Amino acid sequence: MARQLLITGCNRGIGRVAVGLFAEEGYDIICCIRGENPEFSKYAAELMRANHVKIEMIYCDMMDENAIMSAFKPLLEERRHIDVLINNAGIAAGSLLQMTPMSQLKEVFQVNFFSAVLVTQIVSRLMMRQRSGSIINMGSVAGLDNFSGYTSYGSSKAAVMSFTKIIARELAPYGIRVNAIAPGLTDTNMAKQMEAKAYDEMVSRTDMKRLGKPEEIANAMLFLASDRASFITGRIIRVDGGM
Ligand SMILES: NC(=O)c1ccc[n+]([C@@H]2O[C@H](COP(=O)([O-])OP(=O)(O)OC[C@H]3O[C@@H](n4cnc5c(N)ncnc54)[C@H](OP(=O)(O)O)[C@@H]3O)[C@@H](O)[C@H]2O)c1
Repeated sequence: MARQLLITGCNRGIGRVAVGLFAEEGYDIICCIRGENPEFSKYAAELMRANHVKIEMIYCDMMDENAIMSAFKPLLEERRHIDVLINNAGIAAGSLLQMTPMSQLKEVFQVNFFSAVLVTQIVSRLMMRQRSGSIINMGSVAGLDNFSGYTSYGSSKAAVMSFTKIIARELAPYGIRVNAIAPGLTDTNMAKQMEAKAYDEMVSRTDMKRLGKPEEIANAMLFLASDRASFITGRIIRVDGGM
């Protein structure tokens, strides 16, 4: 049987590129995206045809806990086999402490952290039953290096990476590895949203003086998902061009 991947937030950016790379590696994929997107469905159909894999969609808004439960419940009922979970959906927000409304903080934590915890609770039940799995969470250098102006985003990613280390301990006895990737600034819409000054600062802070490519982050996902990473758990892997 082909290996099975479930990935969130793959409508565009890093997640979309990851779907392409995992399909090329022969994975069957469950894509969890916010809503129907004919353009993404066409992309998935092309990948299925080119790589002889199955790609299916489940839809939910990561802001909505009930929608997540409803979208994922059939996977539990059908006792689906899932080898790899990638919690990739995320949003960014930048502001200094005094300019950070609670509404922004809650929204960023809901998408980046709470939804990833809920999805992991559900999918890890399947993995615990099958006594194997690899969970990959999307952290960020913003959650490690404590840049000013990142109260919401940086704190939410720090929470994701702390959660990663905690549950790696809980799930290791079930044969489940849990790791996080901490990308530096990567060339997606998220990076384009940044203010010019913050963007230039991030690039100049990077030893390689450039943005990461989404493929460079997705390659790290592929490695952590695979048996080549069979003795790696509870780790945060920086993919940041040197910082
Ligand atoms: N790009 C960077 O510089 C960078 C650096 C470090 C970490 N990361 C992390 O890498 C991950 C992917 O980011 P990216 O750069 O690929 O960003 P992106 O291009 O903005 O893509 C974000 C993805 O998350 C999805 N998403 C956002 N809010 C959602 C919601 N409420 N419900 C369902 N899906 C939602 C988006 O879906 P829609 O298309 O429907 O909006 C999109 O597919 C994120 O966790 C991000 O924090 C990125």
